Amino acid sequence: SDTEKGTYDHYMLKEINDQPAAMRKIIQEYQDEDENLKIDTEIIDQLKDSDRIYVIAAGTSYHAGLIGKEFFEKWAGVPTEVHVASEFVYNTPLLSEKPLFIFISQSGETADSRAVLVEIKKLGHKSLTVTNVPGSTLSREADQTLTLHAGPEIAVASTKAYTAQIAVLSILAQVAARELGKGTEINLMQELAKVTTAITAIIDDAPAIEQIVNEYLETTRNAFFIGRTMDYYVGLEGALKLKEISYIQAEGFAGGELKHGTIALIEENTPVFALATQEKVNLNIRGNAQEVEARGAKVCMVSMEGLNQEGDTYVIPRVHEMLTPLVSVVVYQFIAYYAALHRGNDVDKPRNLAKSVTVE
Ligand code: G6P
Repeated sequence: SDTEKGTYDHYMLKEINDQPAAMRKIIQEYQDEDENLKIDTEIIDQLKDSDRIYVIAAGTSYHAGLIGKEFFEKWAGVPTEVHVASEFVYNTPLLSEKPLFIFISQSGETADSRAVLVEIKKLGHKSLTVTNVPGSTLSREADQTLTLHAGPEIAVASTKAYTAQIAVLSILAQVAARELGKGTEINLMQELAKVTTAITAIIDDAPAIEQIVNEYLETTRNAFFIGRTMDYYVGLEGALKLKEISYIQAEGFAGGELKHGTIALIEENTPVFALATQEKVNLNIRGNAQEVEARGAKVCMVSMEGLNQEGDTYVIPRVHEMLTPLVSVVVYQFIAYYAALHRGNDVDKPRNLAKSVTVE
């Protein structure tokens, strides 16, 4: 059944492997009989009626929200802010006239996010919850819900919920773009199908990623993740995954930012994971990689087919440039998994962490 790990050693490994099936399920759930993208009219109307989106989330869901912002702004043309729930509630920014609040929460139970929902409802604002658990508190209390259809996620470190969140947000933004006549439509279902194939290829290639862990992470105490634009956001998630379960101190940075301070921490053999999936910044991120390499860093360059260069450590299959996070993150999920496994950690139940945090 869905809540058993079956032949897998850990729920996390199972859930990483569940991702192609989750993608297929999402593709199926979000299309009509004519295979057009489908989202409830009320949700689209709410979105069309708003002048700004405020995404509220915590942890991995916050990182998915950062990718969602790119979709809402670049496709649907709606200005979007992404906020950490625990900060927003005590330091609410100036709101636009017609805000739409989108809560992203795997569990739908995160207290920090719920506190924001309670406040914005008092102000009379509209809300949409994107969650894996339709009957959850955030789902019941918001005006609308979009379901992730990822199946139960048991491991504390979130994997398939993150990719499901990004996929569902991409569908929402594309339908909004269509309904608003933005002219930014892509054949999203076809592109998500390509993503599914690419994720499967990486899953089949997991032993190669375990080798990367052997080479880069066996003895280190820290690691850095750099990237630009979308790749920066995926780096934040890669660092979080690694911290959560391997307990290696890890930080994600914008490629250009490391040199403004943190580069002081680079020593001989400090691992730096660099992501290069975005054509516009491909040469820039490679420049950043050279900067840290010159200070002794050991750079693991993860690039995308078509943008790859000789010597790259790992090359992911080519997918639509707005959807690369769905694929590149899988490499980082495996890196975190094997790093934790090799250190003998409890992969599914890391110390000090809870699957859902229901206290503020
Ligand atoms: C906890 C979990 C994280 C998760 C975060 C937000 O801290 O350990 O994995 O990303 O809560 O959870 P949510 O259910 O709201 O997405």
